[in-house]
Amino acid sequence: VTACADMVVRPCAAVRGILRVPGDKSISHRAAMLGALAEGETVIEGFLESDDCLGTLNAMAALGAPWERRGGRIAIRGVGGRPAPPSGPLDLGNSGTGLRLLAGIAAGQPFVTEFTGDASLRSRPMGRIKEPLERMGAGVELLGPGGTAPLLVRGGALTGIRYRLPVASAQVKSCVLLAGLFARGPTTVEEPRRTRDHTERLLEAMGVGVRREGDAITVEGAGPRRPRLAPAARAVPGDFSSAAFWMAAAAAREGCEVRVEGVGLNPGRTAFLEVLRRMGAEVNVAAARGADSEWEPRGDVTVRGGRLDGTEVGGDEIPNLIDELPLVAVLGAMAAGRTVIRDAAELRVKESDRIRAMAAGLAAFGVPVEETPDGMIVSAPAVLRGGGEVHSRGDHRVAMALAVLALAADAPVRVRDVACVDTSYPGFWDDLERLRG
Ligand code: S3P
Repeated sequence: VTACADMVVRPCAAVRGILRVPGDKSISHRAAMLGALAEGETVIEGFLESDDCLGTLNAMAALGAPWERRGGRIAIRGVGGRPAPPSGPLDLGNSGTGLRLLAGIAAGQPFVTEFTGDASLRSRPMGRIKEPLERMGAGVELLGPGGTAPLLVRGGALTGIRYRLPVASAQVKSCVLLAGLFARGPTTVEEPRRTRDHTERLLEAMGVGVRREGDAITVEGAGPRRPRLAPAARAVPGDFSSAAFWMAAAAAREGCEVRVEGVGLNPGRTAFLEVLRRMGAEVNVAAARGADSEWEPRGDVTVRGGRLDGTEVGGDEIPNLIDELPLVAVLGAMAAGRTVIRDAAELRVKESDRIRAMAAGLAAFGVPVEETPDGMIVSAPAVLRGGGEVHSRGDHRVAMALAVLALAADAPVRVRDVACVDTSYPGFWDDLERLRG
């Protein structure tokens, strides 16, 4: 099945099967960037060849690190810590991770880099990276209205800083740490809430020291010398956030069972499993062993469906399941009682305003839903009404979450504008067909 403008999702009685999902998006971005900065060649297995991550690979090629496909893997020729000036603007498409992390690297280079992206990316807040990068000594000009991209990063001699993140964001943390690699002295980032640590793990795996003390993470900068990253052959695990769609599809209905194999289980990403358990789903995890698992934990997750109860999600849990919150809303629409999401105002500045997009999507199914400034309150309707249409608003996770809900509706549902799914999960519609049996 190829993704087209719209997709009509027919309901099904049960979702069953065993599958693997494509590689982790967050880890693939980082592997592309750090592989490109390393000395010599980095070979990556399981790299996510989605629009977002290919965009990052191509941006790194524009900075002097060409890549090629080799037997199902991606091979990158690293620049040894010395990127070359790009000949034009770097277009990161839909990807906030691509743009924000790369801006950190660009800040440490003795040239100007221009970044741009699609309409969604050009609407997302970039002041959050401008502030710390300027404190380190870079110049960051936000050319879009209200502190948005396109942006110009004037790199140069950076000095390490100690920076407390105003919002819990792995992208901003990573941006500052990556700039810190090129700075004079140590750079420390303090997190108000723990976020995913893929950058830290990969840096350590490549031989760069990373210190963690409480909520502070420190890297030692190379200053005028270049940071040295050791290349390695690595296997990226399946993306937990992609696997979560099938876990949710199975969780709320009797007779459903899905096993996702080889999926990433980084403890900074798996709070959704706790939410599933809390709601009453049966969740089994079999952790894998081996060198790759020491770098990034992985294993098989089996979810067996049943009747769910509503739950509350907020506080420290939020960064750990930020990308799964559309699915928490979907589960809320199938669970007894109320499901409350709070402390999640960040959802409003993702690829779309995910609070608004999900509330509108759920309402189209007849789901009682109330939007709040930092979340939503969802209850199950008497019947999950199909027959209508919902809109992705160009947001891949909204499109997929609403498609999952449509599987349980009483009639087919048209999901509008689903090409965006390719930014993170090429093959989603094929997997959906397979699991519906
Ligand atoms: C990501 C961090 C999160 C997440 C995004 C990927 C990353 O964003 O939502 O999908 O790879 O660092 P924020 O850092 O903006 O919360």
